[in-house]
Amino acid sequence: MKFFIDTANLDQIREAQDLGVLDGVTTNPSLMAKEGITGDENVINHYKAICEIVEGDVSAEVISTDFEGMVREGEALAALHPNIVVKIPMIKDGIKALRYFSNKGIKTNCTLVFSPGQALLAAKAGATYVSPFIGRLDDISSSGIELIEKIRVIYDNYGFETEILAASVRHTMHIMDCAMIGADVMTGPLSAIVGLLKHPLTDSGLATFLADHKKSVEKANA
Ligand code: E4P
Repeated sequence: MKFFIDTANLDQIREAQDLGVLDGVTTNPSLMAKEGITGDENVINHYKAICEIVEGDVSAEVISTDFEGMVREGEALAALHPNIVVKIPMIKDGIKALRYFSNKGIKTNCTLVFSPGQALLAAKAGATYVSPFIGRLDDISSSGIELIEKIRVIYDNYGFETEILAASVRHTMHIMDCAMIGADVMTGPLSAIVGLLKHPLTDSGLATFLADHKKSVEKANA
């Protein structure tokens, strides 16, 4: 299972990369705005900076909603770095753009996916990744995890190679549920990734080990 971090914050990306478990980054226009990154040149420089930190795929989202605009933007983004994945919204022209980029060998991430039918279309169009937003479904009392389960079944039924990128992950249980179902990738905040390492028995066990070691050293030196 690949771990992507869902942020445009360079410090958090560095921290996740330093942990040694990071496989990539996803961004979106809201995450870029949150970091105060505005203007074409700044956005481009920011994507380049992210690509210098991380070895894996970096999703960069287009702003256009028409086919020609998505192609123009996507080609420019893809030219920035070999690890850039062009993020395309699940709309009609987006499907055409996914097919266009797939035919050209440019990696894509189909974003804003909320139904199995949308995921089927994205796979048919040759998307590299499909991003079902599980947290946002949970927010409206619909099960995000059930959506991942359904997409897994559909993709396995037909051997689609599109990778299921569980997005809008909010906490550690989302990650674990996705891992149990067989999502190929999850993207979430640093807190959810780091949260996986926490267990009170680990903390108390380590405290005991260290205390016992200290006692035995003191005894040996007495
Ligand atoms: C995915 O690529 C999106 O950037 C992201 O996961 C959305 O998450 P949110 O619902 O927490 O905004």
